[in-house]
Amino acid sequence: MKKYNSSKGARKIFVTTALPYANGELHIGHIMEYIQADIWVRFQCMQQDNGQSRQVYFICADDAHGAAIMIAAERVGMTPKEFINNISSNRKKYLDGFYIKFDNWYSTDSIENINLVQEIYSDLYNKAKLIIDKKINQFFDPIKNIFLSDRYIKGECPICNAKDQYGDFCECCGSVYTPTKLINSYSVLSGAKPIIKSSKHFFFKLSDKRCVNFLRQWAINDKRLQPEIVNKIKEWLEKDNKLNDWDISRDAPYFGIKIPNTSEKYFYVWLDAPIGYLASLKNYFEKGGPKKKYNELRNFNEFISSPETEQYHFIGKDIFYFHILFWPAILKFSGRKIPNNIFVHGFMTINGKKMSKSNKIGISPLYYLKIGMNPEWLRYYIASKLNNKIEDINFNSQNFISCVNSDLIGKYINIASRSASFIEKYFKGYLNMKWVKNNDIFLSKLRIVGLSIQKYYENREFNKVLYIVIEQANFINVFFDKNKPWELAKNNIYHEKLHKVSSRLLEAFRILTIYLKPVLPNLAQSVEEFLNISPLQWINIFTPLTKNHKINKYKHLMTRVDTNIIDNLLKNKNI
Ligand code: MSP
Ligand code: ZN
Repeated sequence: MKKYNSSKGARKIFVTTALPYANGELHIGHIMEYIQADIWVRFQCMQQDNGQSRQVYFICADDAHGAAIMIAAERVGMTPKEFINNISSNRKKYLDGFYIKFDNWYSTDSIENINLVQEIYSDLYNKAKLIIDKKINQFFDPIKNIFLSDRYIKGECPICNAKDQYGDFCECCGSVYTPTKLINSYSVLSGAKPIIKSSKHFFFKLSDKRCVNFLRQWAINDKRLQPEIVNKIKEWLEKDNKLNDWDISRDAPYFGIKIPNTSEKYFYVWLDAPIGYLASLKNYFEKGGPKKKYNELRNFNEFISSPETEQYHFIGKDIFYFHILFWPAILKFSGRKIPNNIFVHGFMTINGKKMSKSNKIGISPLYYLKIGMNPEWLRYYIASKLNNKIEDINFNSQNFISCVNSDLIGKYINIASRSASFIEKYFKGYLNMKWVKNNDIFLSKLRIVGLSIQKYYENREFNKVLYIVIEQANFINVFFDKNKPWELAKNNIYHEKLHKVSSRLLEAFRILTIYLKPVLPNLAQSVEEFLNISPLQWINIFTPLTKNHKINKYKHLMTRVDTNIIDNLLKNKNI
């Protein structure tokens, strides 16, 4: 086994997606996020630097703590632990179903997380001196004996008098206010009138000059973040030049991690959740993950503190506040490695509408699989829409059908299905690669676009990757039509030409498959079997099929999608 040697030169990358709350099943928005990150990770895994494979670790976990989960568990008569275990046992079906290949899936309710949270807190408290305590007044439910967050208080809107509005926001008129302004407020948990009670809370001093200066550098000057995010941060940092301290504690009863040296105080779930990224990675390292994956001995602390390690988080637009202010600041001032970047995506909408459980707008990922829809149709569709901006991605039925049928199948898969039959029928499955020359213009062009494709994958512009792939597939289909292999087949004297033409088409198909492999991993595997080759890596763009290579019998690679199945999918309301 290799001992890790840092001078080797291949990139080392740690990637996460947001940790889903363990109070519900995964929805299609989660799947979209995982597909985006999975494509990026698979692309990275196909790359080499200086002849060495990149080391990539792709990590997630359940976000298990918080008041919402505690209350949801109580409603169904379970303990929070039973409740989250039940949810977490279902994750695998979704992930395997859509070919999402995390190296580890763990939980924030774990010993690794408890230890890391307490270490980080202690460093912030003792070394950085960025933790303070203050007494604050809060609503309290006198029947349930619990402090109420804004979501658990309802009442009449002080502006428009709409009934049953949340403590912080009116859904009717859009006004924002503090819970004390609500008229006839009541606790959502018991219906009782909340009382005001004071309690000591712990705060992370985000307002400290050190934090503000650091964030100005990391989030603005370093130019790492997406422009939409930078603009938001500028608003916060440059307007009032001040950030508010962040309340990181909650009173019992709370399902979470105890704050050391306190009685009955817990860390707010948003403090322990991102630390769960590290806990899941640590758990993976301690189980010997890197040894199994790369046959390397690596130690978690060494890996995560190495300046060579790159750390990236994929998240949705609703949670960037936590990831772009608190998370880097907490890591920085507890003396830890800070993220290289946070990649923020927009939301998935369904035929133009916002997803909503209560309005029954959504797509059930498990139902999608159950009715036999191909997971790679969705991966392809999502990839064709994704760029590196924070734009919503709309699932449009007609667009989905044409994307899969006309582009993916009509243009790419068709190259193989049309060429393979000649090789099988006239040449016993043997290719004729004698003509392969380095100056073959047709294939060189196809190889050269690999450089742009690589750049677009790296920058998460998957829409541009697929645009180039389909453009190339069009050229290849024109080559097919121009050479009329079906005509060549009719007469023996043209068979040598037929042999070359169909072999060249299959070589072109092989190269396109490399480009598509991060998006379509399962299909690429079928192509590897069909072409009788070892798993394709990026470098194989330049290693053509060899002389007299024998391919296997062509089996149908992918079926078309039809309108009925999409209608069926969208009719399902159990989302
Ligand atoms: N538990 C927190 C994250 C903690 S990370 C340390 C959370 N969980 S979540 O389950 O609500 O959301 C998980 C991820 O799914 C987030 O990145 C969120 O933006 C994303 N999405 C939620 N709805 C979505 C869509 N409709 N479309 C795409 N992504 C969406 O937030
Ligand atoms: Zn109102």
